[in-house]
Amino acid sequence: MNKYLVLGNPIDHSLSPQIHQFFAQESGLLISYGKHLVPPESFNEAIDFLVDSGHVGFNVTVPFKEDAYKRVDTSDDIASEAQAVNTIRVDGEGQLRGFNTDGLGLTRDLVHRHGISLCNSDILILGAGGASRGVIGPLLEEKPNSLTVTNRSREKGEGLVRRFSKRYPHSNLYFRDMKELDGSYDLVINATSIGLSGAFDLLGENVVMGKICYDLSYGSGASFATWARSVGAATSVDGLGMLIEQAAESFLIWHGHRPDTDHLYEQLRAKIDD
Ligand code: ATR
Repeated sequence: MNKYLVLGNPIDHSLSPQIHQFFAQESGLLISYGKHLVPPESFNEAIDFLVDSGHVGFNVTVPFKEDAYKRVDTSDDIASEAQAVNTIRVDGEGQLRGFNTDGLGLTRDLVHRHGISLCNSDILILGAGGASRGVIGPLLEEKPNSLTVTNRSREKGEGLVRRFSKRYPHSNLYFRDMKELDGSYDLVINATSIGLSGAFDLLGENVVMGKICYDLSYGSGASFATWARSVGAATSVDGLGMLIEQAAESFLIWHGHRPDTDHLYEQLRAKIDD
């Protein structure tokens, strides 16, 4: 039986084993998929040990996606521009192939599940860390009218925009200070790590009122999604669908087949909202 694992710290909460076992069952495959808590600074040792013990694929989550990017032998274009890897395939020779499926997971959820058109839209992304780096490329591939990054640290936000502008010279990519933001964006995406902890109070209400809002965190407590809904966003969606879609992309990389995701989404949605 082929062995897969998700690595992270913390890892207890991860739904990846449940998601991949569901996909495998639906596809008639028998796999083992576990979770592995990696101590800080120990990513490379963990990977070496796990490859030696016969694992053929890994998902990597916070805070090791950058370590995974540095560790793999090759990475695809999206992982290279994000400098972050969330999926590793171990090839026959023991070579580690790195991918980043987060951005495709996001665009797939936005466009296919929620019917949100990105083409010609004006998008605002909050945050300039690894999560933003992973989704900006795939969002730009959808040809929005503009994509604006805002971030607490201006330097980091401007650096990110400069880097992606070189790769996507024909896109309208901007940095704006949080204080300068207005209500001109169609879609507002939270890619900060504020997540489930604490109340969300970074933006003026006018930025999200009547707009579509998306939180990369998931769960009924996702703070940006909850806040946006409470101040009058037209639609406010959490990142559960992205989680499932990025897993489907990983599944495709490992097994050559993209599983159906709607059934699982409905099941997990009901469980989380309960
Ligand atoms: P990740 O890999 O999850 O993106 P990261 O690289 O540490 O994590 O980036 C976290 C992002 O959340 C950054 O954009 C960070 O802003 P700074 O670059 O200014 O640090 C943002 N962030 C985290 N906590 C925040 C807070 N309390 N207020 C505003 N922004 C916050």
